[in-house]
Amino acid sequence: MEMTRRIYLDNSATTPVAPEVVEAMLPYFSKVYGNASSLHGFGQAAHKALDESREAIAETLDADPSEIIFTAGATEADNLAIKGLAFSNPDKRHIITSKIEHDAVLSTCKWLETQGREVTYLDVDGNGRVDPEQVAEEIREDTLLVSVMAGNNEIGTIEPIEKIGEICREHGVVFHTDAVQAYAKIPLPLDVIDMLSVSAHKISGPKGVGFLYVRKGIKLIPVLHGGGHERGLRSGTENIPGIVGMATAVKLSFSEMDEVTPRLRGYRQRLIESITALPGTRLNGDRTDSLPHVSNFSFAGIEGESLVMRLDEKGIATSTGSACSSPNLEPSHVLVAIGVPLTMAHGSLRISTGRQTTDDDIDAIIAALPPVVGKLRAISPFKVGE
Ligand SMILES: Cc1ncc(COP(=O)(O)O)c(C=O)c1O
Repeated sequence: MEMTRRIYLDNSATTPVAPEVVEAMLPYFSKVYGNASSLHGFGQAAHKALDESREAIAETLDADPSEIIFTAGATEADNLAIKGLAFSNPDKRHIITSKIEHDAVLSTCKWLETQGREVTYLDVDGNGRVDPEQVAEEIREDTLLVSVMAGNNEIGTIEPIEKIGEICREHGVVFHTDAVQAYAKIPLPLDVIDMLSVSAHKISGPKGVGFLYVRKGIKLIPVLHGGGHERGLRSGTENIPGIVGMATAVKLSFSEMDEVTPRLRGYRQRLIESITALPGTRLNGDRTDSLPHVSNFSFAGIEGESLVMRLDEKGIATSTGSACSSPNLEPSHVLVAIGVPLTMAHGSLRISTGRQTTDDDIDAIIAALPPVVGKLRAISPFKVGE
C-alpha cells in the first residue's frame, strides 16, 4: 500500500525508542558485554553501568538505589509487587484494587483469588476516578495492600493517589501504584507510595525492561527464583543494554517534561474541542484532570476497529483503546466501568501522543476523522440519534 506520511498516535501502546537511547545502548551489546556478576573487567564494566542506571532512576523517585528492582517490564513489576507481597504475608488475605486497572494488576488479583485471597474491586465514577473515601471504607483488619494506578492507559484519567496513599498510611496498609502511563509525565506523590511499577517502552525506552520501586522495609517473596540477582527479588542475568536504555530514557523524559507535558496537553485540548464538536461523539475520561497524552472518544453507530483500520489506510495509527484481543470482542472493561453505553463502547478510539508528535499530526487526524466517520456511518446499520 502506498503511503505518504505515517503518523503514530498510539504512544500509550508503545513509543519509538529515542535515538539517544539507542546510541547509549549500542556499546552494551558487543563491546561492554560482560555479565554484571563476573569478576573480570568485562563484568566490572557491566556492573558499573548497572549501578549508574539504578542511581539515575532512584534519583527521579527520591529513592535509595537499593529500592529499585529491575524487571522485564511492568507486567512483571506488577506481578512482583502484588504476588510478592501476598506470598510474604499469608495471614493478611485482603487486597483492594480498582475495576479499571491494567490486566497486569487485574489478572494477578484474580489469580490470587483462586489461591484463597479476597479482592475488592472498587467502582469508579463516570470519569474513571476512584473515590478515596471508598478506599477507607473497604479497608479491613486483614487488608494487606491497595493497588490503584496513577493514570489510566485507556482514558487518561488521573487517580487521586495522594489521598489514597495517605489513607493507606493511616491504616498501615501497603500502597502500590502502577505508574506506567504517569511516570515522567506528571508529578507523583512519592511520600505516600510504597511500591511503584514502570515500563521503559512507554517513555521512549526499549521493550522488555522495567522496574519496581519497593520502599525499604517492605518484604516481598520473589516470583522468579534462581541466582539471587536484584537482592534476591528477581533472579536472572541483568539485561544491561535494556537497563542502560531505560535509564537514558528516564533522564531524557525528566529533562524535557516541562516542555513535553504542556505541549501534549495542548494537543489533547485541541483534539477534544474538534472531535466532540462532531455529532454523536463523546469524550471518555476526564476533560482536564488527565494524563497529557491520552484521549479517548466514542462514536455512535461505528465500530472502533473499522475506525482504526480506515485511519490506518490514511497513514494514521491509533487504537480502539478497548483491549479487544478476545475473540468475542467484549467492550473495554474501563469503558464499561465508567458507564459508557454498550453501543458507544464498541465505537471507541484512543489517540495517544508522544514527544515526537507535532501540530501537523494533530491537524492531520482532525482533518481525517470527519470524512472517515461520515463514510462509516453511511454504511452502518445503526443510525446516530436512534
Ligand atoms: C498501565 C499499564 N500497566 C502495565 C502495562 C504493561 O507493561 P509492559 O508492557 O512493560 O509489561 C501497561 C502496558 O500496556 C500499561 O499501560
